[in-house]
Amino acid sequence: MPAFPENFLWGTATAAYQVEGAWNEDGRTPSIWDTFSHTPGLVANGDTGDVACDHYHRLEEDLDTLAALGVGAYRFSISWPRVQPGGRGPANGPGVAFYSRLVDGLLARDISPVATLYHWDLPQELEDAGGWPHRDTALRFADYARLMGDALGDRVHTWITLNEPWCSAYLGYASGVHAPARTEPAAALAAVHHLNLGHGLAVQALRSTAAKDARMSVTLNLHHVRGVSEADADAVRRADAVANRAFLGPMLEGAYPRDLIEDTASVTDWSFVRDGDEAAACQPLDVLGVNYYNPTLVRQWDGASLRETADGHQDGAASPWIGCENVEFVRQPGPYTEMGWNIDETGLTELLLRLHRDYPAMPTMITENGAAFPDPVDADGRVHDEDRVDYLRRHLTAVAEAMEAGADVRGYFVWSLMDNFEWAHGYAKRFGIVRVDRDTMERTWKDSAYWYRDVVATGKLG
Ligand code: NOJ
Repeated sequence: MPAFPENFLWGTATAAYQVEGAWNEDGRTPSIWDTFSHTPGLVANGDTGDVACDHYHRLEEDLDTLAALGVGAYRFSISWPRVQPGGRGPANGPGVAFYSRLVDGLLARDISPVATLYHWDLPQELEDAGGWPHRDTALRFADYARLMGDALGDRVHTWITLNEPWCSAYLGYASGVHAPARTEPAAALAAVHHLNLGHGLAVQALRSTAAKDARMSVTLNLHHVRGVSEADADAVRRADAVANRAFLGPMLEGAYPRDLIEDTASVTDWSFVRDGDEAAACQPLDVLGVNYYNPTLVRQWDGASLRETADGHQDGAASPWIGCENVEFVRQPGPYTEMGWNIDETGLTELLLRLHRDYPAMPTMITENGAAFPDPVDADGRVHDEDRVDYLRRHLTAVAEAMEAGADVRGYFVWSLMDNFEWAHGYAKRFGIVRVDRDTMERTWKDSAYWYRDVVATGKLG
């Protein structure tokens, strides 16, 4: 039974648009996700984040839940249009006051605040001005980071600039299944670059405003890409370039990988990358945030046979996999979660060891890991989610194995503290260790929450 070090950071995670609600209160302006969810047909069941989990009005209760779980850290995100309406100009007092109360409430309970600046809710005005494909958005983002550093920098333990820029760029601007629902591959690659640049500029802004001991980080949903056979090495390389090294390159090495530029040459000439941008994107970080749910399996595609669509996009429809025209995404063996994602924790061990090998001086932290399951309420009024306990236990064991093999992993955050708005899937997919009743907003601990409380208390997997 693996035991984790004393100072290992145990936490849970959420994101503003997925839990807060209060979408038009206290000066908040719409984000691209308000626009997206208010557009009929884009989100399952017509769900929106208007109310979400009503966390904005139930802050104290949710903070008490975190305290009862005994976690050492809480990862939340700041809604940009709540604290800087329209994405420009001065801070919005009431919006900032909410996060200030959140941070103080965490500290009062001895929980370290881990703040994500961008978990996908771009102010709609900035999208109207061009969005992430537009260079100015990176500069606006740095300005917003500075405002937050000024307001909360004395109290935040770890700053995460971006959450999963892969999703922001490719799902938002290439496949269009996320806000702002654009299907423009060249714009998606420009978005990749301006997210990388915005990250670097934001770290610079935070270093000059935040506490000296504040940790700087970014969260990537790195894909652990495997080939069906050795003959599929080029498919693996292409998928790895566009999904992983497009971010790891500039952020950790100060340069885009050459093969990525070549693979995507028919889409863009990358002339939006200006002298000095790659160096600006590459700021010293204290820890790299990794979100992991499942691995990716690929093989070379011959262009003739019917292509599998295991990555979730319809063949023939816009793909997030730019430069991967000859790559087939292969459906992996089960078991699967409610999202249809296969459960395979070995990918997490391998991914952590790859990062340790490629960036030996960079500690990592699992900033998200978890699973959606149907979670019916039993006759006894409880949710016996053994499948989630099993998923979490497997993945924590995988983390422990990577650590035994030398990986420097500093913490683990369950996605998610509570059931919430799962983007285009709406509320139908439940990821919480705490159940949220959609009618009453009542919070009920699932069995996984009790289990996680014991893991956190003992540092051991029961
Ligand atoms: C990644 C995202 O950061 C989060 O917002 C989402 O809910 C989970 N994965 C589950 O899909």
